[in-house]
Amino acid sequence: MGARPLIIDCDPGQDDAIALLMAIASPEEFDLLGVTAVAGNVPLAKTEANARRIRDLAGRPELPVYAGCPRPMVRAPVTAEAVHGPSGIDGADLPEPSRPVEGAHAVDFLVQRLAKTSRPVTLATLGPLTNVALAIIKNPTILDNVAEIVAMGGAVGLGNVTPAAEFNIYADPHAAHVVFEAGVPLTMIGLDITRQAIATSARIEAIRSLGTPPAAAVCGMLEYYGARTTATYRHGPPLHDPCVIAYLLKPELFNGQDMWVAIELAGEHSQGRTVCDLYGRSGAPNARVLERVDADGFFALLNERLARLSVSTP
Ligand code: BDR
Ligand code: CA
Repeated sequence: MGARPLIIDCDPGQDDAIALLMAIASPEEFDLLGVTAVAGNVPLAKTEANARRIRDLAGRPELPVYAGCPRPMVRAPVTAEAVHGPSGIDGADLPEPSRPVEGAHAVDFLVQRLAKTSRPVTLATLGPLTNVALAIIKNPTILDNVAEIVAMGGAVGLGNVTPAAEFNIYADPHAAHVVFEAGVPLTMIGLDITRQAIATSARIEAIRSLGTPPAAAVCGMLEYYGARTTATYRHGPPLHDPCVIAYLLKPELFNGQDMWVAIELAGEHSQGRTVCDLYGRSGAPNARVLERVDADGFFALLNERLARLSVSTP
């Protein structure tokens, strides 16, 4: 079948960074066409530079990184430095990127790359959906060339940034609405899943024992990020975004069901909530919502992929 064409849209973010490492370490499965960055965990200038630092860390300095939207479509920007630190990837301790960001805007890259592809492209989204929504609005025909979208975002249960909402959806609910209504195969990997993928101390030590620069950076990031999430996650930080890459690599580690999901755009206490029709009471399904992950299998896969990265600088 060959490697699946893939574009990753992200806002690194420690967990985005780990997801990027996992994807770059999987060239047999992914033909990684580019990485697009969006404002999210930290402002755009930092997320795009962090994506370039991570590609260097993974030994892929030639991988194109495109900067996208610096703010959400409608709402005021929100960021998450309290969790991710001022740089977004605190704990990694990485040098300045070796090469500049690409000249094209991420939305234009998405439109042009999807318009010209002969093979449908998978979109892995790890941050607010602003770039992807604007690409769809700019040229809806690109949807014909999207194989599927696998998105980290939302929750059937409770949120993290508010009691009702998960960060990526809350940060740009209008963009999420556009993407969830787009009519392409969509898999939602929400907090219900990622709260099962906890980087316990034993799992972090297993990564450290790989003894490589990428493994050391991952452990540093997990320790920084873990120290800021202890009030919610007593046993370690959740690996939200890497679940997207793990699902694309090994879907058998996950299960879930198709359902209708609506994005709450305006609720006083519920803006950004993913309203999930668990019992089929409303519309036709527009998403596959994952519910369970084999966490040990997930961490075994993460370690196996990180072990393939031994290069620290280009
Ligand atoms: C999501 O929000 C960000 O903080 C993480 O990078 C992840 O994508 C989890 O709610
Ligand atoms: Ca993210």
